[in-house]
Amino acid sequence: MNELKTVGFLGLGIMGSRMARNLAQKGFGVVAWNRTSARVDELARFGVKPAATPAELARRVDAYCTCVADPAALRLVALGPGGLLEGAKAGQLFVDFSTVSAELTCELEAAFGAKGVDFVEAPVTGSKGGADQGTLVIMAGAKDAAFARAQPLFAAVGTTTIHCGPVGAGTQVKLAGNALIALMLEGLSEGMLLTQRAGVDPRKLLEMVRASGFRSPYYDFKGPAMLDRNFETAFSIDLMFKDLSLFLDSAAKHRVPTPAAAAVKEVYQLARAQGKGEKDISAVVTSLEDLCGERLK
Ligand SMILES: NC(=O)c1ccc[n+]([C@@H]2O[C@H](COP(=O)([O-])OP(=O)(O)OC[C@H]3O[C@@H](n4cnc5c(N)ncnc54)[C@H](OP(=O)(O)O)[C@@H]3O)[C@@H](O)[C@H]2O)c1
Repeated sequence: MNELKTVGFLGLGIMGSRMARNLAQKGFGVVAWNRTSARVDELARFGVKPAATPAELARRVDAYCTCVADPAALRLVALGPGGLLEGAKAGQLFVDFSTVSAELTCELEAAFGAKGVDFVEAPVTGSKGGADQGTLVIMAGAKDAAFARAQPLFAAVGTTTIHCGPVGAGTQVKLAGNALIALMLEGLSEGMLLTQRAGVDPRKLLEMVRASGFRSPYYDFKGPAMLDRNFETAFSIDLMFKDLSLFLDSAAKHRVPTPAAAAVKEVYQLARAQGKGEKDISAVVTSLEDLCGERLK
């Protein structure tokens, strides 16, 4: 039995707007709230209804989902004045799709649990395209019963769900995954720039990578986009900087050395200092190009 008929969605950015649309198109009654209310209006044609505040939204639905930028935004929307917790009722389900810290997701599980609300941490990967097509990969952290309740929502936005463990576990997997993406992208950027500077076509490097044992669909997708100068934002430099910062905070807490992630975070800091924070992460190559005085061709 699908007990979840009405679902609230908070945070209609690149990811959340597409996830909310998929929930509405797959039969849920969706009520939405976004800091910038015009983004709720854009979903009205899919039957999405507006809510005045997160608290008011929580009073109207069976479950609520969040997909906001960072820990500060999630804290405000969930625990701040007029936040979800004020309207929360026993028996509801709260699924957070944002990428934040494990400390915050554990805090949310405790705060909402005290009101009888099940909490599921569910950061995602798959970017704008995956959110659009409903093919996200979900890294869930939750108690078994809460995880089971969230299945109909997961099926509407994703194709693969990995139950990583209790709340906090999904975040650890997500942050490690994003550190890996940042390192992969940095490796490709540095490799292509040096190949070109040495007088060799960087497309030859991509051709070799695609034929090799270290090929990746990520390189198939990002490599040609970088060479074609297509830096349309799917995942911003600001948000990757946030994720690398969270990864390094966790590494410090657990006393794990992560020198490569620390170095790559500085490349993202450079890009932000150059005013590129809202550009796609693939635009970090342009920061290296600025230092080299040469563009990839
Ligand atoms: N883009 C990706 O490829 C991707 C992939 C996996 C995971 N994620 C994660 O998913 C989350 C959302 O990413 P996104 O790419 O959709 O980001 P985005 O397009 O920048 O959207 C961010 C959302 O957070 C809201 N927000 C920001 N600060 C807020 C605040 N102080 N109070 C209330 N709301 C606030 C924004 O509201 P406004 O509309 O008013 O600005 C917007 O709805 C992030 O945690 C990100 O790390 C992103």
